Amino acid sequence: MMKIAHATPQDVIEIQRLLRETWNDTYGGYFFQATLDEVYKNWQSIEFLTRQIEDFEIYFPIVKETESMIGVATARLSEDVIVLFRLYVYPQHQRKGIGELLINNVIRHFPKAKKIQLHVDLKNEKGQAFYKKQGFKEMKRESEKVANEVIDQILMVKEL
Ligand SMILES: CC(C)(COP(=O)(O)OP(=O)(O)OC[C@H]1O[C@@H](n2cnc3c(N)ncnc32)[C@H](O)[C@@H]1OP(=O)(O)O)[C@@H](O)C(=O)NCCC(=O)NCCS
Repeated sequence: MMKIAHATPQDVIEIQRLLRETWNDTYGGYFFQATLDEVYKNWQSIEFLTRQIEDFEIYFPIVKETESMIGVATARLSEDVIVLFRLYVYPQHQRKGIGELLINNVIRHFPKAKKIQLHVDLKNEKGQAFYKKQGFKEMKRESEKVANEVIDQILMVKEL
């Protein structure tokens, strides 16, 4: 049976494992190793993830199926816009509707929001296909430097 609930600090090791495995599956083939390491060190560290789980302004749902974690999302409200920081589903559980379940759960969590937005990597075609199917539109392209690599991203927005 599938359950969806806010993450607790006890979930952090499993969340980290899910993020690392899914991140590596998605980007391992084309980001520099230094970029991957920088992400692991900063945004997938136990300390960073625990701070996010304990931050009352951050919504951090996880999906579990028979006690195993299969997907996570992280979002916060900025004025009337939901900013989605991450949406990850284990590779072996993708394309079964878990991503859609999580994104709809995030939208329901912030009923007053007027829009939802996220950045998706320009090379992440799977992510872009998913968000387009969910009704997101490309707004603009932006670049960010991580370690020594320039990462091109697309800002995608959906009106609610
Ligand atoms: C993007 C992601 C969250 C989608 O989750 P999901 O549970 O697979 O998505 P759903 O099953 O709800 O939706 C399926 C739709 O997503 C897109 N999609 C998912 N996997 C795809 C693939 N391998 N190739 C192309 N499109 C794909 C398609 O639009 C698909 O619809 P279709 O099957 O009718 O073609 C998931 O692929 C993932 O975790 N990717 C790695 C992390 C990531 O890129 N996150 C988003 C950027 S922050």
